[in-house]
Amino acid sequence: MLVRLLYASRATDAIDDALMHSIVERSRANNLEHGITGILSVYPEGGIFLQVLEGARSQVNALYGNLLRDRRHRDVTLLHYAEIEERHFAAWRMGSIDLKKVNRSTILRFSEKPVLDPFSMSGGGALALLEELAHTAAIVSRDVGQGG
Ligand SMILES: Cc1cc2nc3c(=O)[nH]c(=O)nc-3n(C[C@H](O)[C@H](O)[C@H](O)COP(=O)(O)O)c2cc1C
Repeated sequence: MLVRLLYASRATDAIDDALMHSIVERSRANNLEHGITGILSVYPEGGIFLQVLEGARSQVNALYGNLLRDRRHRDVTLLHYAEIEERHFAAWRMGSIDLKKVNRSTILRFSEKPVLDPFSMSGGGALALLEELAHTAAIVSRDVGQGG
């Protein structure tokens, strides 16, 4: 029984390599162990996280509970939650949204304005945008925390 969950949040402090390292190190091991896949995308200039999680309902719900209590981000906003037949993000990846590579018209397709603001988007729109970004290399992988 699989679910997909999408949320956006605002980083409490600047999004730098030290912060990402602290998040990613734990996440890689945990997610592998719990069968959770997805993308953690960060938009450093905007101080925004946009994360999609897929996996067993019990595991995804438990992780979301942890995420809500995590002081490294705030305004955790549930954008989309659905039961799914199949994963769309079958590996766990972490990447930065490189706005220079994102076509403003792509953002405008899913948003009211041509600025990336997941908090003002519908859940379906935010998910569609994330899938599009993932497939157009507008999310560049970050290699922090992979050193082991
Ligand atoms: C933006 C953000 C994304 C996170 N993503 C994950 C994740 O994908 N998997 C994970 O286990 N923890 C993630 N965390 C950390 C969790 O909030 C929490 O600290 C962690 O699950 C606790 O793990 P532990 O019980 O092993 O200490 C994330 C934290 C932040 C701020």
